[in-house]
This record gives sequence, C-alpha cells and structure tokens, in this order.
Amino acid sequence: MRKFISVFVMYLMVIAAVSCSLTVGAQHLSVEHRVDSVLSLMTLDEKIGQMNQYSGFWEATGPITEEGDKLEQVRNGMLGSMLNVTGSGHTRQIQEMALQSRLRIPLLFGQDIIHGYRTIFPIPLAEAASWDLQAIEQSARIAATEASAAGVHWTFAPMVDISRDPRWGRVMEGAGEDPYLGSLIAAARVRGFQGKGLGNTDALMACGKHFAAYGAAIGGRDYNSVDMSLQQLNDVYLKPYKAAVDAGVATMMNSFNDINGIPATANQYILRDLLKGSWGFTGFVVSDWGSVGEMINHGYVTNEADAARAALTGGCDMDMESRCYIKNMKQLVLSGIISESLIDESVKLILRKKFEMGLFDDPFRFCSEEREKQQWDNPQNRAAARNIARKSIVLLKNENKLLPLSREVRTIAMIGPLVKAVGDNNGFWSYAWPDDSARIVTQWQGISNRAGKNVKMLYARGCGITEPDTSGFREAVVAAMNADVVIMSVGESANMSGEAKSRSNIHLPGVQEELVKAVCATGKPVVLLINAGRPLVFNNISGNSGAILYTWWLGTEAGNAIADVVFGDYNPSGKLPMTFPRTEGQIPVYYSYLNTGRPPKNENDLNYVSAYTDLPNSPEYPFGYGLSYSTFSISEPVPDKTVFSPGEEVHVRVIVTNTGETEGTETVQLYFRDKVGSLVRPVKQLAGFQQVLLKKAESRTLTFTLTDKDFSFFNDKLEFRSEPGEFELFAGNCSAIEKGVSIWLK
Ligand code: BGC
Repeated sequence: MRKFISVFVMYLMVIAAVSCSLTVGAQHLSVEHRVDSVLSLMTLDEKIGQMNQYSGFWEATGPITEEGDKLEQVRNGMLGSMLNVTGSGHTRQIQEMALQSRLRIPLLFGQDIIHGYRTIFPIPLAEAASWDLQAIEQSARIAATEASAAGVHWTFAPMVDISRDPRWGRVMEGAGEDPYLGSLIAAARVRGFQGKGLGNTDALMACGKHFAAYGAAIGGRDYNSVDMSLQQLNDVYLKPYKAAVDAGVATMMNSFNDINGIPATANQYILRDLLKGSWGFTGFVVSDWGSVGEMINHGYVTNEADAARAALTGGCDMDMESRCYIKNMKQLVLSGIISESLIDESVKLILRKKFEMGLFDDPFRFCSEEREKQQWDNPQNRAAARNIARKSIVLLKNENKLLPLSREVRTIAMIGPLVKAVGDNNGFWSYAWPDDSARIVTQWQGISNRAGKNVKMLYARGCGITEPDTSGFREAVVAAMNADVVIMSVGESANMSGEAKSRSNIHLPGVQEELVKAVCATGKPVVLLINAGRPLVFNNISGNSGAILYTWWLGTEAGNAIADVVFGDYNPSGKLPMTFPRTEGQIPVYYSYLNTGRPPKNENDLNYVSAYTDLPNSPEYPFGYGLSYSTFSISEPVPDKTVFSPGEEVHVRVIVTNTGETEGTETVQLYFRDKVGSLVRPVKQLAGFQQVLLKKAESRTLTFTLTDKDFSFFNDKLEFRSEPGEFELFAGNCSAIEKGVSIWLK
C-alpha cells in the first residue's frame, strides 16, 4: 500500500501543472497532458523499454527467448508489458518489481483470454454457431470479469480472422467464413471484453487479431503466406477488423503471414494507411509472438536491427518476445535511421492506454485477491456458460425424430473415446486448472445425471482418438446390443485444432470411423456427438447414424449442455458459421464464391464446366445450416419497393412460421446477389439475420432494412461504392436457397 501511495504522489508531482477537471472532455485532455508529461521525463532507453513485451514464467504460448534477464529489465524500466503472468499474486509481485524502476511506470499484463478464464465457454467458432450476439457478448463480459480480478489488463482477443479453410487449426478461434456475421461477432466480443469502458476494474483491453488475413494462409498451413487481391482483402478479410476498430477495440495484433509479399508486421498499407490512417484507430499495435524477428526468415529484412526498423516504420508499436526493439532501436535512432519522434508516437499510444486503464493512479487496482476468489467458482457464470454452450450445438441430422430421446428409453450405451474425456471439453486456448476434473461436466456425467436413476447407463470407450487399436470394438458392440439407444462421442482431441495445428486430413482420426460403423451395424439407433475445433469430414459414417449433433468444444458445462439438447430441455438452434466440405479436395469451399463463366447446370453436369469429375460442387453442409426439433417455413422476401435510389431504405418482409410440433428458435437469414458488377460479385452474400423463438403454429413477420450501402463493394479503384442494377434477395434458414426476388438500384 505504501508503494502505491508513493507512485501516486510522484505522478501527482509530475503532472502538477495539469488540472484535473471532472468534466469528461477535460479528463480526456488531462490524459493527453499526463502522457506528454511522463514522456518528457523519459530517456530514450526507457521509451524503447515501453515498446518491449516478454512472456512471463507461467504459461508459454510460443518459443520463449532464452535470456534470463527479464526481471532485471522489469526493475530497470526496460519492459512495457508482460504476458502470461497468471493470478493476482503473480501480477502483484511483478508489478511491484516494475515500480522499482526509475519512473515507476506500471506494466500492462496481457493474456490469451480467448473463451473464458476460470469458467470456460465454448470455443469461439462454436459460439459463432449460436448466431446469438447477446450471448457472445455476455461470454466475453464474464471472461473479462474473471480475468481482470486476477490482475490481467489485456486480452489477446477477439481473433476475428475470416477463414474458409478448415485445414487451418486456428479456425476454432474465430467466427468462421463470413465477413458480415464475423463483423457483428467481432464487435460483440469487443463490447463484452471492454464492458463499460477502459478504466473500470472489470474491463479488459481487447486486441483485434491477427491483422491481417491470417486465416487465408495458403493451403490452410499455419503461418503460411497470403496472396490475394486488394479488393478481396478489403471486401472480405478486413471487414471484421474494421468492425472491431469501430467498436472501440483498444489494441490490435499483427499476424505472422505476409500479404502479397510484405509481412503484416511491417505492412504500411494495412497498418499506417488503413488502420492508423483512414480507419482512425487510436490504440496501439502489438506484434505477434516473435513476428518482428521472423521477418528475417521471411527474407524481408537482413537482420534484427533491420527487422526493428521495418516493423516500427510499418506501424508496429510493441514487440512481443523477439527482442529486436530492445536490442536495436537505440542504435537505429542514434544512427539516424529511425527518428525519435516515431518512437515517441508509439510510446504515447502505449502510455495512453496505461492511463486510461487507471494504472498510473493505482497499479494494483486489477489484482484483487478478494474479487479473484469471488470469481473462482461463480454459479451465475456457469449458468451463462451452459446457456451459450447449448445454443452452440448444431443438429445436423435427425432421422425419424430420434432426438430428443424418447421417455421410453430404459438403457443408454455411451460409446467412444470422448465420452469420459475431461480437459478436452475445454478446447484449445483454455487454461488447465488443478481442479478441472471436479469442475468440468463430462459428457458421461451430463447425460447420466439427466437420465436419472431409472435409466441404466452402459459405457465402452471402443478406441482411442488416434490409436489404431480396435480391440475395444467388441465391448462397444456388446454395450450397443444391450441398449435401447446409443450415444457415441467421437472427434478430435482438443489440441488437434488451435495454433500450429493444421491438418491435411480432417477425417475423424484413428479408427473412430470403423468404430462408428461397427456400432451402427448392430441396428441400434445411434446418436453421434462430433467434438472438434473445425469442420471435419465424416460423410463416410453420417449415413449410418440416426442423429448427429456437432458439439465442437463446449467448455466447463459441456456435459450439461449436451444433455439439455439430447433430452429436449433445449431445442437446438445452432447454425454452421462455416461450410462443411464433402472431402478435403473441395477446400476451400464456401457459400460466397464468385461465379465462373462455366457454372454447371446441375450436380451431374460435367460438360466442360467448372466442376470436379468425381464430386459435386455443393458441400456436405452449407453455411448457415442447422436443424431444430421443430420445423419452420420461411416465405420469399417481399420488398416494399422494387426500385430504389442510393440512400433510400428498402424494407424487406419475411414471414416465418413454426410448422412443427414444438416451440423452437429459427434463424432467418437474408442473402443477396448483385447480378452484374464492374467486378464479378459473389453468388450470395449475407445481409441480415434475425432469431425468433416461435411457439407451435406461431407466425411472425420480420422486417429487414437495407440501403445501397449494404450492396456496396470495393471496386477496382478500391472505392467502397454501390453500383446501379439488379439485386436478387433470398430468405431462408441456410445459405443454400435457390429462389430469389429482384430489386433494382437506380
Ligand atoms: C499467437 C497469438 C497469441 C500470442 C500470445 C501467438 O503465438 O499467434 O494469437 O496471442 O501467441 O500468446
């Protein structure tokens, strides 16, 4: 406490000349003055120190630089931020060291709070399948509340990279393939993390990543190059980052890839022209782990000094773990290669965030042992996690209404390598806590608890996730034979998707397909639970099972959420945020593709058309697809005018009716096609969606409002403009809608 007072007094002295008015405008002014005052006290070394970030000693999320001098540098003011410092005790301890430095500038503590901190929520791709922006925002809000109580100031999330390649392991961290849905989710997550605004002790600084186009890595191989037109970059890939900026994201992170030959870390076009230029971003940019130094491997710079020069010139303000800035920047300034004013610019951006977070007033305001304890096992947070987990599940198939399970079921056999898995349920990018086995609700526990005492539960593992051993099949078949219904839990292990987890083969690993076939051969009804961090290929077995639930990785409450859906306590409402391919050979396959000059007339047309001779062009499951225990009819869209002018609103009405036997939620999706453009336009683009809960036989009229802005795109001069002409509108419950209605823009 004494230390805290002394820091505070010192800064009061430093900024004595600056009046602290209580009005909002003057408070803002005061931050600027305070930043300038601190900057004016700093040596060049201290400034460069602020631009330096190391990983701490608790969780490594990349290759750590070996040198053991980190703490010494903290004490000397040579570090602006540290990541992976876990818990209020540790953050307090390291912050105390930072306050031993000459100017006592507090550190920022960053961590990958990707889908929860203590309470683990579904992986982001799964949450995106809920299409429920409020629930997604709430999940980020809770994650921020829990993590901030442990002394974390800054999350490296949301990851908003569009990806159309399920081979890429990091699709699990994003919102899927679509820029419209992805932008709304990006903004929701930023709002959730940053809460009522920086400076509140339950608000984390968010970080939009990975800027930019990391998800378009060639071949889906992590860290690979990205090569695309600037039109596509602007029209598709950049949109969610821009949405994050518009939502007030505090920071952005570079991506590892190069874009058209220039590494993103030093890419002036995206960082200076767009992000810090026309987009008006006022936060700071952090490199990705080691990405400054990795530009040597790219062959873009000659050595670490050159890397530091290129990155800072490009617009990267903080260097994560490469040490290129701390080792070389001073010399670059002294030799006149880098001007000190460029350094000042970056340091001001970083200091400003420290002020906005209130760290200069109280460097320990986030690490509260008491608050941390309260958040340690918070029942409301678990309830929210269960709620979004069940909304994230996608029902892909339900033959003969196998689900929800009938009340007549007396014996359930649960079979498969993931039935009793514990930690896997959390998915990649989650922290393993010592009490996980007591906290995570396994699928076995969730189903058994809900089934109750009157239902007999049988279990057989059958096989491992990747092992070739089939010796457990017999036991699995026997269990199936003795049951009324079988629930099989198969898929990847959690760490088969995530960073550096690209796969060329995205079938179910190991002998799991054979296990499913063997169990289905018993003739017993089989419900498949497919657990994965990406779309998998499983069409070899989908015909054999009666029902398929795509359960991704659902977090702490996985077992309960799955039970809610299996027993019909929750009617599934999830919709795929990514297209599911029939085989890897179709990748990339996505709904919003450009038409060719030779589109096939139908799936059998092979007459010199753009098609595979051994496979239809259509995917296994289209973007936006997902069933319910109910059925819905969706009318054609009815616009209130067929001709409209730029700036004018078109109101499009769609009637949705619950035609099934039970209450349920439908996500009504509105797509459009720009029939003719100065650049070839996608065959479909999502322009809106609405979720409605309807009772049996209930109808609702939904209205979507569109203007020419919704139909605009980046033309060949990179101007975002609409063009006159015909637009076809489509309404439905997924992207595969055939029949549209036309409107014309004057
Ligand atoms: C990842 C980032 C992450 C960082 C810090 C990198 O390897 O690409 O997404 O935020 O490590 O853990």
